[in-house]
Amino acid sequence: MKPRRATLSLLPFSLSLILAATTLWTTSARKSDALKDAFKSDFLIGAALNRRQFFGEDKSELALIAANFNSITPENQLKWQYIHPSPGKFDFTAADQYVNFGEQHNMVVIGHTLVWHRQTPGWVFADEKGKPVDRDTLLARMKEHIYTVVGRYKGRIKGWDVVNEAVNADGSMRQSPWLKIIGADYVARAFQFAHEADPSAELYYNDYALEDSPKRAGAVRLMEQLKKQNVPIAGIGLQGHNRLDWPSLEQQDITISTFAKLGLRVNITELDVDVLPVVSEDIGPTMKLTDELQVSLNPFRGGLTAAISTEQAKRYAALFNVYLKYRDVIDRVTLWGVTDADSWLNNWPVRGRTNYPLLFDRGGQHKEAFTAVLKTAEDFKRD
Ligand code: GLA
Repeated sequence: MKPRRATLSLLPFSLSLILAATTLWTTSARKSDALKDAFKSDFLIGAALNRRQFFGEDKSELALIAANFNSITPENQLKWQYIHPSPGKFDFTAADQYVNFGEQHNMVVIGHTLVWHRQTPGWVFADEKGKPVDRDTLLARMKEHIYTVVGRYKGRIKGWDVVNEAVNADGSMRQSPWLKIIGADYVARAFQFAHEADPSAELYYNDYALEDSPKRAGAVRLMEQLKKQNVPIAGIGLQGHNRLDWPSLEQQDITISTFAKLGLRVNITELDVDVLPVVSEDIGPTMKLTDELQVSLNPFRGGLTAAISTEQAKRYAALFNVYLKYRDVIDRVTLWGVTDADSWLNNWPVRGRTNYPLLFDRGGQHKEAFTAVLKTAEDFKRD
């Protein structure tokens, strides 16, 4: 009798446990409000992190980052000027912490960037008298830099933006010091050095505005040449610094499919959607925001209007729908920052504006755009 009574009295309890667990499971499966979970069968969701974030200085943001992102890119700390500030002197303090942070949170860690015309100190291209160095010297410097940095994180950094922004708007090659001193093969050489330093790392070419066809055509030519020479390139990064009205969805679509047809993986690497009036990069940095200019150039300093918030949400959703269409060739969609407060677009091209380009607001709360992006994942039919 005893065991029987025990079984009977336990039954309702275990039943209710099962019921509770099922309810919990279905609710969380239905209502996951984390970006990385919503897209887990499609692509990684990344964020560019600044130093403060990967040193864990803001605990509330830390939880947000860990919950939503399964990949990270360093906004600045792996760029030449920070990691290799003077000849023979490398400073790995921040970069080491960045990589540790990614590993501690089980994130795919990306390296950005090895060879670029910006944020690279002048000494790299000059001799002691300030004159341009010769080709062999610059190649040797490039090799030392890439071997040291990529070598240090061998097996830990999954993929590298090897060359950033080598193509002009008209499709010609940018006349950077790299090109002028080494010649057009500097791109191939950079990839070879990176491959030698870590044969298992994925290597990428990264650029902006490839959605505009003249520039895209130039990048296609470059990619074809690299492929023909068997350069170990795995993919292309479309930066994705977008506006409410640029690029068109057709441009976005054809850009992804064009590079995919070349046999490249395509990643969205620096996604944001700028909502402020356009200012040219030539004059923006020298501008002072007078009271008058505040009105015309910084219209949302008191808050984003409901209309623009909705427009941005629709825009994000439309872009994610294109990314989802190409989920077989896209491995990662990375946002360039976490909250609106972090974004470079608050200070570029004009300093001191209030922009709203990301998915979390200044308080770390979900924006309308966040909800819209999550909904694209929920609505997308996967066979
Ligand atoms: C480019 C670079 C990034 C970053 C952004 C602006 O897109 O690739 O590293 O500097 O500009 O923040």
